[in-house]
Parts: sequence; structure tokens; C-alpha cells
Amino acid sequence: MTHFSGATLFVYRHLTVAGSRHIIVNVMSRLVVVTNRVPAADELARLELGSVAVGGLVSAVKSMMLRQRGLWLGWSGRSTSRGRPAAPGATHSAGPVDLVTIDLTEDEFNLYYTGFSNRTLWPLLHGFVERVSIRRELYRAYQRINRRFAETLFPMLRHDDLVWVHDYQLFLVGQYLRQAGWKGKLGHFLHVPFPAPEIFDILPWGPEILRGLMYYDQVGVHTADYQQNLARALAAETDGNWDGSIFSRGRDATRIGVYPIGIDPDEFQGPSRFSAPSLSDVLSLPPGPDNKIIVGVDRLDYTKGIPLRLRAFNRMLERHPTMRGKVTFIQISAPSRTRVPEYVKEREDVEMLVGQINGKFSERGWAPISYLYRFFPQHDLARFYHDADVGMVTPLRDGMNLIAKEFVAAQGEDPGVLVLSRFSGAAVEMVDALIVNPYDIDGTSEALYAALRMPETERIERWRSMMKVVNRTTAEKWGESFVADLERGTEGETE
Ligand code: F6P
Repeated sequence: MTHFSGATLFVYRHLTVAGSRHIIVNVMSRLVVVTNRVPAADELARLELGSVAVGGLVSAVKSMMLRQRGLWLGWSGRSTSRGRPAAPGATHSAGPVDLVTIDLTEDEFNLYYTGFSNRTLWPLLHGFVERVSIRRELYRAYQRINRRFAETLFPMLRHDDLVWVHDYQLFLVGQYLRQAGWKGKLGHFLHVPFPAPEIFDILPWGPEILRGLMYYDQVGVHTADYQQNLARALAAETDGNWDGSIFSRGRDATRIGVYPIGIDPDEFQGPSRFSAPSLSDVLSLPPGPDNKIIVGVDRLDYTKGIPLRLRAFNRMLERHPTMRGKVTFIQISAPSRTRVPEYVKEREDVEMLVGQINGKFSERGWAPISYLYRFFPQHDLARFYHDADVGMVTPLRDGMNLIAKEFVAAQGEDPGVLVLSRFSGAAVEMVDALIVNPYDIDGTSEALYAALRMPETERIERWRSMMKVVNRTTAEKWGESFVADLERGTEGETE
């Protein structure tokens, strides 16, 4: 662990990127970002933001990286069938960013990504303990790949770089970088929840991972709850001291900070969304003020609570027959982790439920649910959000959930209503959404009914207040505040 004094290296200035003015963080030190997945080089070189619903991490990091020079290391998204991956560390120049990609073999992909990342850590961190797979060979592969990331990166680093590693797939990269000799600034951001220590405790390698986190100067999370959980887990595992912001142990100190991630609201408000097809065009919905639209957009993941959301919609139609024929639920599910068995099962469950509900209520010229299992470009989604009367974002557990912020950003005059799960990080900030407990099907169905009938004045009031949050915590500000704290260091803040 190293602590440089916090000489400020930031200069804020305006730059013209692709014809539009953006405030950028011009870090004199180079920003080096490490993520499991990177966007395609041509996407970055064309300065494109978020073309598909791949999850908040890549969009937010991309939006940050496009505004400054830097190096971005991640898995290429390819898996080779050969014993050794093809070209470890292939570099592409993508606009202001040097993109360095690592290939994985099929085996590595299965053990590190599908296995330890998505069948062990993902359910564990989201509190789905019964789904956690505990297998030594998965953890060994995870260690190997984390070490490969670190060893590929280390020779490329300059002494004054700021290194920022992202998410649960790469917890141990910091430790391996230190062991390789990296003495500079080193931060980590966890994009998913950190559960109560009693849950994390079921992982046999939990203590090693926690000690691995102590190699970072700074670890960021989305909410104060996750911060407390992580600090409690560290305190239970080590004999360190937590002062509410810094966890210290001997001469080592790691700041655990709360940095709620956001979006770039302009991306959802520009006129481009109006050149995208409307929901009524895409689905040939009958027009008319009486025809309400509810939209749900998610990666197809069991943490997103899609089946319970559909059941709440079903309950609403049962309890309020006047709504039949007058409301259509559009569920857009982006394919995700399709080789993980739990995701295959989730897709089957969702599709079966859609069939059952449609079979039960459909009438001539109206089916209650339109289900689309595919990716949509971001500007299409912006148009869909804008066209919808209600956005349903009801995960069973979610680090933040940027769809909630995107939905709000895309509204304008005559805004729609956001129904939001209290188990998403977004609910901490978006208190003017209709907050629901997604496990409570009756309660959610009544909130949905209220959302569909909410008077305009209340909709406007709630939306304005949520829009303030969206504008206050943008992707840009998230990146800036994390990097500013990392730069500042913890020196002088510890006892
Ligand atoms: O936000 C959590 C996260 O796992 C990110 O790390 C990732 O970019 C995103 O969801 C999508 O997941 P995946 O890369 O596994 O498709």
C-alpha cells in the first residue's frame, strides 16, 4: 500500500468531442482502467456511447474514458478453443484510448467467467445463497486470470498512472499488481452490492478476497449500506480499524467510499430518440389515450425479478378488470450469460409466464404482454422509455440499476411514472419513485395500478425531483469524484 500526498493533478477544461462541448477531467496522470469486458475498438474509436444494453459498468466507464486519454484493459469477449489464448495483450488505438485486450480459452471462460464470477460471486454478492456454487477449480481459475490481467498490465504502467480496477470479476488484480511491483495509486469499484458479512462468510475464500481488497488504496461502492457491509466484513476478518471512511491496519489504509454511479442524461434527451421508431410502431399497438404502456428493460438475469414483476402485472389485471384491453406491458430482455444454467432456466420461466398470462387475458386485438428477447440500441430504448406511461424497475437486488435513471432522463412533458424496487441502489436516491417491495405481489400490483392512474401534477412533481438526482449524479461526476479521492489519497486522514 502506498500513500502519495494529495497534490492535485486535476485541471478541468472544456474540450470539443465529436462536435459537442463536454467538461472533461484532464488527469495529468494517465487513467488506466481494468474491466472484465471492454467495448469493441471501433465503437470507441467512433466515440459511440452505449449501443446495446450491456449493463451500467461498460456504459459509464466508456462515457468517462471518451472524455480523456487513457488505457483500458479487458477481456476481448472472445474465447479461443486452443490451449493458450491467442495474443495476450493485443493493443488497439481507439480515439483517445489505448485498448488492450486479453483473450480467454474456452476452459478459462467456463471456469473464471461463467464459473467463479457468475455462478459463485454473482449470486453470493446479491444474496442468493442457495445458488452459490462452491468449487475449488473455479476459484483457482479466477486467481489465474486475475493474475494474468495484472501481469499483462504491469509492464505497460508508468509510475504516475492512476489504476482503477472494476467489479467482482477482478477483485484480486490489485493484490497481484502490488506483488508484481506496482507502487502507484490503485483503486477498485464494486458495481454490485456487497452483502451482509454473514452472507459473504459462506465463501471459503472470502477471507483471501477481503485481504486482497486491502491492497487497494480505495474501494468504491454505490451505497452506504454496501460500505457498512464491507467495512464490517473487513473488521471481522482482520484486526483493523474502521473510522467511517478509512479502514486501516498497521500502516495500510484503504478508503471505502460511496460513489453512486449515474448516466449521461443528454444521451437520453437529445432529438435522436425521436428518429427512433416508437413503441407503437415496433409493436403495432392500437393508438389512443386509453392505451397505456408499461415498460420493463433488463439484462435477462434472475436478480432482476422479471417473473415476480409479471405476476404483479397479472394480479393487477385480475383485480382491476377495467384495465384489461387498455394496458400493454412491454418486457425487453437483453440476452445475458446465456451459457450459465441458471440464466437458461430464468429465460424458460419468463417465457412460460408470458405465455400463461397472454393465454389467460388476451382478447381480439389485444395481448397484455409483448415480450422482446433481444438487444436494442440506446436511442431506441430512449424512445421507448419516453413513450411509456410507466417504467417498472423491480430487481430483487441490484447494486444501482441505471435503467431507473435512463427512464427518468428520457421523460419530458407529460412524464411517465417510475415504479422502483426498494432493493436497488437507485432507490436510495430516487425517493420520489413509487417504491415497491417486489416480493410483495399484491403491493406491487397496487402501486402499478396507482402509477397508471396518477394525475399529471403529481407525475410532474415526482419526475422533476428525480430529474434533479439524475443530473446531480451523472456518470461523469461519478468518475470524477472517485478519481479525485483516489488522487487525494488517505494520508493525513488516518489516525
Ligand atoms: O454491473 C454488473 C456487471 O456484471 C458488470 O460487471 C458487467 O459489465 C455487466 O454487469 C454485464 O455483465 P456481463 O459482462 O457478464 O454480461
